[in-house]
Amino acid sequence: MMHITTLEQHFLAEHRRLGARGNFTSLLTAIGVAAKVITREVRRAGLNAILGTADSQNTHGETQQKLDLLANDLLCRTVIPTGHLCAVASEEMEGLLPIPDDVPRGPYTLAFDPLDGSSNIDYNVSVGTIFSIHRRITPEGPGTEADLLQRGATQVAAGYVVYGSSTMFVYSTGAGVFGFTLDPTIGEFVLSHPNIRTPPRARMYSTNEANRDRWSPGIRDFVDELRSPIRNGGACTSRYVGSLVADFHRNLLAGGIFLYPGDSKNPNGKLRLLYEAAPLAFLVEQAGGRASTGCERILDIQPTHLHQRVPLILGCADDVAEAEQFIRRAETPAAARGPRAPSLSR
Ligand code: AHG
Ligand code: MN
Ligand code: MN
Repeated sequence: MMHITTLEQHFLAEHRRLGARGNFTSLLTAIGVAAKVITREVRRAGLNAILGTADSQNTHGETQQKLDLLANDLLCRTVIPTGHLCAVASEEMEGLLPIPDDVPRGPYTLAFDPLDGSSNIDYNVSVGTIFSIHRRITPEGPGTEADLLQRGATQVAAGYVVYGSSTMFVYSTGAGVFGFTLDPTIGEFVLSHPNIRTPPRARMYSTNEANRDRWSPGIRDFVDELRSPIRNGGACTSRYVGSLVADFHRNLLAGGIFLYPGDSKNPNGKLRLLYEAAPLAFLVEQAGGRASTGCERILDIQPTHLHQRVPLILGCADDVAEAEQFIRRAETPAAARGPRAPSLSR
């Protein structure tokens, strides 16, 4: 008999397992509520005048989409009143988000990308929301940036919502990755993908190949290896949606590697550590995968500022390890290189 486990029931079980302080369940539930409301807006985007750009730019100088701002506002209005947060940061906002004086400060911090893939919104391509939760490290009172600038390895929870052919809520508290599908007929997220695991290797890669000429030799060599017809198991196929959450979700379930490396124009790449790389790195490692800059484990990086970008290579563990090998080899003077390591066996 297939159990019906809702998101909230799962949160409660995780809360008990963690012996969580504060009301962990209430915070995660609030994110689930925001996901349902954003789903409603995304599903009607062509009818409710929220397509197109707002007359504003974010701190990255990126033009904001109306749905970026709406999703940001909906998340703030659901999670901040819970009183379980001491500090909140959004990809779309410059500094810490204000928590009204009459709202208690709790033991957690939240960082989120309210709408990922927003360049795709107007064309009905899957987009997402990404979130990351830490326990505060300052003793009490209003949280500070220090409470948010923690290594990804210390996250207590991370997850994303993908607004695709269905809406899915995928999260981990450090004991595996669980996926829930929104059943619109009852308004509940129901467990549909228990204990998600990603395979060690796959034959799918995701990257914006328009950037190829700016890549380092190691990245170029690795992507050429993925495309090689003589690669063990045959050449890989390419899938690139342009929404990180959509590409990540497909690769997590089907197997694959996503690369947004640094390049000669943007040495740190495009993606943000706190709002994109660290939460997805937490999830992919929980699912048996790997996430690095190409040189350093994402979860080991000590953040220095709220909006720092990092090169990101994440997905199947052996594929990411092979990418790191190619980068190391390319950075080793030719005279010092040994024989080229055979591609990891397929
Ligand atoms: P966001 O919409 O939150 O700014 O994120 C967009 C990111 C990510 O979703 C995607 O993988 C990447 O931008 C695509 O960048 P390119 O268009 O440069 O390939
Ligand atoms: Mn994003
Ligand atoms: Mn975004």
